[in-house]
Amino acid sequence: MAKDFSTMEDSNRSGNASIHDVLAQRRSVLKLAGVSALATLLQPLSGCASAGSSASPRLGFAAIPPGMGDALQVPPGYVAQVIAAWGEPVGIEGRMPAFRMDASNSAEDQAVQLGMHHDGLAFFPLGGSSTHGLIALNHEYTDDGLLHPDGFLPMTPAKVKKSQNAHGLSVYEAKLHGQQWEMVRPSPYARRFTLSTPFEMTGPAAGHALLRTAADPQGRTTLGTLNNCASSQTPWGTYLSGEENWAFYFDGGKNIDPHHKRWGLREKGLYGWASGDPRFAVAHTPNEPNRFGWVVEVDPMDPSSTPVKRTALGRAAHEGAWVALTRDQRAVVYSGEDARFEYIYKFVSTGRMQAGGAKANRGLLDHGTLYVARFDADGRGAWLPLVHGQGPLTAANGFADQGEVLIKTRQASDLLGATQMDRPEWLSIDTASRWVYCTLTNNSQRGQAGHPGVDAANPRANNSMGQIIRWLEDGDHDGLQFSWNHLVLAGDPANPRAEAKGNVKGDIFGCPDGLGFAPNGLLWIQTDVHATQMYQGEFKTIGNNQMLACDPQTGEIRRFLTGPTNCEITGIAFTPDGRNLFISVQHPGETPTDRSDPKNPRQFSNWPDREPQGRPRSANVVIRKRDGGVIGT
Ligand code: FEO
Ligand code: CA
Ligand code: CA
Ligand code: CA
Repeated sequence: MAKDFSTMEDSNRSGNASIHDVLAQRRSVLKLAGVSALATLLQPLSGCASAGSSASPRLGFAAIPPGMGDALQVPPGYVAQVIAAWGEPVGIEGRMPAFRMDASNSAEDQAVQLGMHHDGLAFFPLGGSSTHGLIALNHEYTDDGLLHPDGFLPMTPAKVKKSQNAHGLSVYEAKLHGQQWEMVRPSPYARRFTLSTPFEMTGPAAGHALLRTAADPQGRTTLGTLNNCASSQTPWGTYLSGEENWAFYFDGGKNIDPHHKRWGLREKGLYGWASGDPRFAVAHTPNEPNRFGWVVEVDPMDPSSTPVKRTALGRAAHEGAWVALTRDQRAVVYSGEDARFEYIYKFVSTGRMQAGGAKANRGLLDHGTLYVARFDADGRGAWLPLVHGQGPLTAANGFADQGEVLIKTRQASDLLGATQMDRPEWLSIDTASRWVYCTLTNNSQRGQAGHPGVDAANPRANNSMGQIIRWLEDGDHDGLQFSWNHLVLAGDPANPRAEAKGNVKGDIFGCPDGLGFAPNGLLWIQTDVHATQMYQGEFKTIGNNQMLACDPQTGEIRRFLTGPTNCEITGIAFTPDGRNLFISVQHPGETPTDRSDPKNPRQFSNWPDREPQGRPRSANVVIRKRDGGVIGT
């Protein structure tokens, strides 16, 4: 019988003495005393700049202190519940194998269980409900040290298959019963997308010679999606997911051609897949890497629908993709690629969104114009068209047609002189003000020998902390020019190095990654400081990865949630009423090498199970206000 996470409420059940034990004692004292201004009393301990203050009337919760222990924390008056951890059956009827704590589930089991390393997610209401819907969820990558009882090596075909089945996407059904969210299982909507799932390729590059392989001579159907990082929901009711660090799955071999080299392929991939699946060896399947790096579109409401890779949006190390609508209802898709010195893009559709949901808008993202961003020093910027035949994007420069421009988006952007950014992660669009926000998570190589120096948009050398940039298009979202500024430079003002201090108005954080506007206009920020930096040096006082709320009108930022040890906090999905917030806790217990020791799987974390013989698991968490109110208010 599968462990029922839906009945678990998160709290610190570890034996670790931590700051949280002290806080818990203080909280219980305060509860007994009927004191509500908890954060004010915690302030000397927490060091929260904004704790208990109410500079922004739109932020109604008490800030919590930086997280230092193996527990998830939320403010007083909120409750956080774990749901849908890695390995739980997704809910396909007749195929619901229980998770085994020793990781001994087979590859076949994993194909019908939730994958590993939860990331972006979205809530799709059933019948408009805020208490019953579908969650579409990315599984970014695997820690093969935790995935198999004997860890990563030696990699066998069966372990490669299990690793592939732990990647991709999940769709599960969730319902609120009383105060508890539960997975609905079995569910006709329950679905996994793995490396075996056929995806249709559409748009200008579909069928291109560079996308054809022996297994797919038409270049129009590819198997699987991988390294799905951020995600979003389109206004027509589909799910968009970015294929991010796909380059690291391929064995590039000893003589990598300049095209694959520009995309970061290396001699040996990081996951050992080529040993069990020859399509991940470039020597065997030279075009297979070209079939990844796309934005995928899924219709979670139709379990029989074929997922699609939309080539018109360009190939990149896509963190994700986010849709705005022009006033005349054309789709504008913003995206970026999370790699040092890479780019921010937008696509403007030719057609307009039609009434009728996913089916009526099936081709909307296949026709339009792709642009790459240039941020100028005067606070202005321009969108440069990635259109074959325009400017340097000609056959003489290596672009035979528009398909090749889209497959080689990076090379085309290099030629256009686009701005090399500090690792663009999530974007989010303020539908009220029409400003577009983007997290630039960090870039330790900025200004270092042999690398680009600082520029106005990426103003800090050895940028350990990251920043959030924002812009407003001239006219409408299809504007070719824009004005920009920084919402915030992250960091701790106590840091001695000027570039690591930041200018946060409120609670300190580093490495912004997840980003999303709530229905009420608050901007939520999530962080991804790596295990190699946690609690050390410039990150010493920042604590575990976290989620903060920002009032974009005042710039105030307040800490709302902190995660367990060495996890990343990612994924933001509110129910339509704003009263339930789904997030992902990714890789609790991450090790400095990103691969756990199978002999010591609980070295850094045993969240959320706390099973003596268990292992940490990525999971979704649903946050609710005890009084049923809107989150953050
Ligand atoms: Fe998958 Fe860029 O974070
Ligand atoms: Ca990310
Ligand atoms: Ca990140
Ligand atoms: Ca991560």
